[in-house]
Amino acid sequence: MSKTILVTGGLGYIGSHTVVELQAAGYDVVVIDNLNNSSQEVKTRIEEISGQSFELTVADVNDNAALEELFAKYNFEGVIHFAAHKAVGESVDYPVMYYQNNVSGLISLLGVMEKHAVSNLIFSSSCTVYGETKNPPVTEQTPIQKAESPYGTSKILCEEIITDYAKHKDFKSILLRYFNPVGAHPSSKIGELPLGVPNNLVPYITQTAAGIREQLTVFGDDYNTEDGTCIRDYIHVLDLAKAHVKALSYCDKMAERVDVFNVGTGNGNTVLEVIRAFETVNNLKLNYKIGPRRGGDIEKIFAETTKVNDVLGWTAQYDIKDMMQHAWAWQQGLGE
Ligand code: UFG
Repeated sequence: MSKTILVTGGLGYIGSHTVVELQAAGYDVVVIDNLNNSSQEVKTRIEEISGQSFELTVADVNDNAALEELFAKYNFEGVIHFAAHKAVGESVDYPVMYYQNNVSGLISLLGVMEKHAVSNLIFSSSCTVYGETKNPPVTEQTPIQKAESPYGTSKILCEEIITDYAKHKDFKSILLRYFNPVGAHPSSKIGELPLGVPNNLVPYITQTAAGIREQLTVFGDDYNTEDGTCIRDYIHVLDLAKAHVKALSYCDKMAERVDVFNVGTGNGNTVLEVIRAFETVNNLKLNYKIGPRRGGDIEKIFAETTKVNDVLGWTAQYDIKDMMQHAWAWQQGLGE
């Protein structure tokens, strides 16, 4: 009998790729998504890739009645919880919205999971919990810092709530701390759909190359790195999606109640290296300039991935050139 997994935010950027991978691994999938940062069309695209359909409920995770209905109908094997707001800058302007959506959303979900005795949860956390680190790579033991933004705070609070809840109840959870997810499905059928002007580097690069934005500004070249620009661990979204499938099967058999994994490639790339990879693999020139630093940026962060490699048996397959190639192919499919 196949296992049914609830995916909250399953039409979003990471969620959609994960649904594809879950279906490929033989899971039945049910999605709840409020279409806040997605569209119904994504469901069709996922089904085109996988050749399999799935049930979608268009509702918020804070909508208790909608969750109740799903949990009454299905005997879920586990839940993967993506549904959340994710823009650091926006969270500074609308903190309550972030607590409401990200923290209350989780509590609402846990309430229904408790009632229906569903005990496996994969949670989307972020390397933002490590804050400014002195000596990357960061391991899962690297201390968590007080967050700089309500977004970061919401992720720390959610990790704490899950860890505390699991102490008192028959409950298991894996916290996946994502580094910088980029790229798109190689089919170019699904990818990131940024709302308005992108804040993140890669969608800004692809929109500049497409002529939607005039010029990319590199935020600072006076950091203490090889070329003076910040270092991040960019990870292909499809690799990240696959880590969720691995986490789900591990969650069932692990001895601990809660475990945490960094999900990155383990390699750091500077902003200029990302631009160069984009130009080389796509054979084009990007219009960019060096500008001032962006407030709140961390100089250098990348993951130590030994734990996720050894325990989950997962390693990133795609490199930065693949990421840039797929991101550009996806952007071109979107039109200008
Ligand atoms: N950058 C530019 N120009 C731009 C946009 C970004 O130079 O127009 C630079 C940034 O300064 C940074 C790098 O590109 O050095 C990556 O920036 P992103 O905004 O793409 O990603 P961040 O690392 O700032 O943020 C990401 C996620 C957050 C998460 C954070 C954790 O978007 O959700 O990592 O560190 F919280």
